[in-house]
Amino acid sequence: MKKERNASSEASKAPGRSGVLVLHGPNLNLLGTREPHHYGSTTLAEINRALAHRAEAAGVLLEAFQSNHEGALIERVHAASAQGIGYLIINPAAYTHTSIALRDALAGTGIPFVEVHLSNVHAREPFRHQSYFSDLAIGVISGLGSDGYLLALEYILRRMASE
Ligand code: DQA
Repeated sequence: MKKERNASSEASKAPGRSGVLVLHGPNLNLLGTREPHHYGSTTLAEINRALAHRAEAAGVLLEAFQSNHEGALIERVHAASAQGIGYLIINPAAYTHTSIALRDALAGTGIPFVEVHLSNVHAREPFRHQSYFSDLAIGVISGLGSDGYLLALEYILRRMASE
């Protein structure tokens, strides 16, 4: 997790809102060794580092948070709202397919978000085809590996720049 403190208010979603929070759901701490045929060999630390570098170059605050606990992720969403975070990038991992509670946290705070999956969930088991998040998301990136996070950030940075 890295915090950059030089975010400009012009780069925020709305007056008083700035910064990007990247949320990683359960088991994503195992990236690098976890089922590399599905998730690749890039570690979570490497993903977070690449995101932090890109955000820093744009002068935008970026934080990342991973948890294996549903309640911790929900509380981080609530805190993001109180903190004035402008956008979220979220890979809810297995909670994608199960968590109405995390969905409700996103709906309740109204923070715009991009949903990211490393694997193409639609090319996998039928239970992965349903997401409790996609209809609320600005957009969904699935199957582009760790590049998906960077592409989501690129989109958010462009959007921030035009706000
Ligand atoms: C995942 C896909 C989910 O179905 C799975 O439970 C994960 C990771 C992905 O990034 O491809 O943990 O969200």
